[in-house]
Amino acid sequence: MADFDLIVLGGGPAGYTGAIRAAQLGLNTAIIDKREVLGGTCLNIGCIPSKALLVSSQYVRFAHHEAQHHGLKFDGVQVDLAKLMARKQTVVKQLTQGLEFLMKKNHVTRIRGIGQLVAPGKIVITQPDGSTEEHRGRNVILATGSVPMELPNVTIDRERVVTSDEALSFTDVPAELLVVGAGAIGLELGSVWSRLGSKVTVLEFLPRIAAFLDPDVTQALQKTLEAQGLKFHVETQVTNVALQDKKVLVQAKTKGEQNLEFQADKVLVAVGRKPYLDGAVAKDLGLKLTERGRVAVDQQFRTNLPGLYAIGDIIEGPMLAHKVEEDGIACTELIAGKPGHVNYNVVPNIIYTHPEVACVGLTEEAGKKNGTQIKVGKFPFAANGRALANDESVGFAKIIADRRTDKLLGSQIIGGNASELIAEIVSIMEFGGSAEDLGRTVHAHPTLSEAVKEAGLAVDNLAFSIPPNPRQ
Ligand code: NAI
Repeated sequence: MADFDLIVLGGGPAGYTGAIRAAQLGLNTAIIDKREVLGGTCLNIGCIPSKALLVSSQYVRFAHHEAQHHGLKFDGVQVDLAKLMARKQTVVKQLTQGLEFLMKKNHVTRIRGIGQLVAPGKIVITQPDGSTEEHRGRNVILATGSVPMELPNVTIDRERVVTSDEALSFTDVPAELLVVGAGAIGLELGSVWSRLGSKVTVLEFLPRIAAFLDPDVTQALQKTLEAQGLKFHVETQVTNVALQDKKVLVQAKTKGEQNLEFQADKVLVAVGRKPYLDGAVAKDLGLKLTERGRVAVDQQFRTNLPGLYAIGDIIEGPMLAHKVEEDGIACTELIAGKPGHVNYNVVPNIIYTHPEVACVGLTEEAGKKNGTQIKVGKFPFAANGRALANDESVGFAKIIADRRTDKLLGSQIIGGNASELIAEIVSIMEFGGSAEDLGRTVHAHPTLSEAVKEAGLAVDNLAFSIPPNPRQ
């Protein structure tokens, strides 16, 4: 048994970031994870491997469909799926090994096994060989993450009816893939397999795909994805999934009560994620949860149990790696007596389709609904020189600002490199800047970022490269 200042239970982005910051602040820290390697869902079966597959599959799409625009012709393009998957795994390995190295260099003790808090400050760890050991932590952080949500009446057999865990590692390209849920996972993995040759159909319960975005953005996204071959059925709820001889039969109901049937080789269920807490805290300790089943914490990440904190996907808030990393940093800073804080109003959210979609802050729809006085500027990538040169003229940048003060309240960008472009908006919002600040800042030419600047100018109808909007 060892005594630590801090034990972190869970080695994903929330846990490993928190553990490193704790060590930097001089806390004797241990991190426990049941996986052989750290990194959690994000590094092992989430953000990173999906990005590796998105890049490889986009090259395939480029070779098949886009190269000819550039005067290039590839004959007989072949995909070695095993090699493509191996590259993805190499990326994952590099990063997870890097984390082990960082833990060592920061003197964080790495313990493998399934941990359970059995009494305040006391953790029992069951190791892979079944043996147990006990450790004490003056402070304990729960950072056990999330797992895919399942649907009633749908058995996930992990072979033909799968979650994102399996859809990142298919060994063959399914001829027909049906995706349930048009959120980030459904759209990203749907894109990957469509580019690699699957016929992809996406069923979405809500009236539009990626419904957290404004309708003009989702319309543009759906149109482009349809042009790439994906099919969508919105306002369609999956009611039953049955394994047949060779195919999977999916039954669904539309909002108008119409019954639909689909057949597919694989079905990917991507209907959200739920907190994963199984056994992490002994039941009799009475850990308090919110109505939505997340761990209840105060503004300093304290649970109702003494010395126990919770961060990441198990507490309220978006289940996004960059949000949970900030939880980890703020929580350990608070434990170390420092003023840790996260600005949850400015958390970007990205879908890594082609084109990418990125958003932050208030949407136009939400602003109009809640009565905020807003003004909106939009600038199309078709009017941006670099986007044309890059053959990435689809999409636009959109800025939402306060009508009276001009303060930047939000942004949505659909277009090439949107995931990188949104960082500028995030920074300006973090400093309380205005649309004019964005519009008057010098942006290098020719860059895609000029479209973002011009969207800032368009808020006051002052964009240079598009005609004035007569309605403003
Ligand atoms: P999600 O909550 O983003 O989307 C799930 C979609 O499924 C929703 O649009 C929902 O209306 C729909 N749905 C639910 N039940 C349905 C039914 N019976 N029939 C048809 N549609 C149904 O969840 P997703 O995509 O699984 O992602 C899970 C979490 O992981 C999210 O918090 C997401 O933000 C995060 N994530 C983030 C990524 C990124 O930052 N690029 C990538 C992947 C995941």
